[in-house]
Amino acid sequence: MRAFCKASAPGKAILFGEHFVVYGEPAIAVALNIRVKVTAYKSQSKFIEGFRTALVNKAIDAALKTVNSEDKNVHVKIESDLPVSVGLGSSAATASAIIAAVTGLFGVKLSKDELFNMALECEKTVHVNPSGIDPAVTVNGGAVLYQRGVGIKPVKLGEDFTLIIGNTGEGRSTGAMVEKVRIFAERRRDVMDGLRKTYSSTVLRALEALEKGDFEELGLLMNVNHGLLEALGVSNFKLNKLVYASREAGALGAKLTGGGGGGCMIALASKERLKSIAEVIMRAGGEPIIAPISKVGVVYEG
Ligand code: MEV
Repeated sequence: MRAFCKASAPGKAILFGEHFVVYGEPAIAVALNIRVKVTAYKSQSKFIEGFRTALVNKAIDAALKTVNSEDKNVHVKIESDLPVSVGLGSSAATASAIIAAVTGLFGVKLSKDELFNMALECEKTVHVNPSGIDPAVTVNGGAVLYQRGVGIKPVKLGEDFTLIIGNTGEGRSTGAMVEKVRIFAERRRDVMDGLRKTYSSTVLRALEALEKGDFEELGLLMNVNHGLLEALGVSNFKLNKLVYASREAGALGAKLTGGGGGGCMIALASKERLKSIAEVIMRAGGEPIIAPISKVGVVYEG
């Protein structure tokens, strides 16, 4: 056993496909350079410093199950720059960083697939039916196309871009929003099928736009995706206020990101407009975060 092992994992923003991805549609997400850092130390007893949640306990236990050692006492320190429960993937990032650091402490280096599967299991403490998009992007980094049951494909970006995130400051439960959509879909299968069909065309065009670096088109398609999420009932007044304020200020596109019902929105804009859109988001009552895309996913830091 080593004296300590450090690992970190990035947050994420879904560009296309939250909720639709739960029903098997492909989604596109990017890793954000806002990270959860975990240090695992050799210890006399089990000790958690930082957050103590069911997910944290599950991640530590899952990691310890994969190691072969008599002495499984670890001290786990969690430090995070990611706001929690706002749709930026803090659960998947926390679980992945914990699993990597704790297994690393015992000299075990998991593959990306193993990390993904273990983090996905941990996400079930947050909601019962996670699609897997959050662990897929946090483990791999960069931009990914993810489809449940099909897999993870890296997306080659035609050009780099930076997103402006607007945090409404309203925390909410991803599980509750997923359940809301489940009830919506169960009662109106035909309506849901229509929305899925439109989403499916939207994400195919979005993938093409991303690969070409056609940001005008990408922004317009983000607006379409926001409209579909509104139809599902997962947007709200505060999210819409930030979305419309950003569009008015010249964003190429803006939409909610993550589970909705509060949490965050994202805006796409040219480099020259980033600052003015951040200001507009602040004036509309949100907290702006300008977050570059992280090319790397889970990394060992020493
Ligand atoms: C959460 O980041 C995205 C949702 O689509 C849920 C999931 O995919 O597990 C709302």
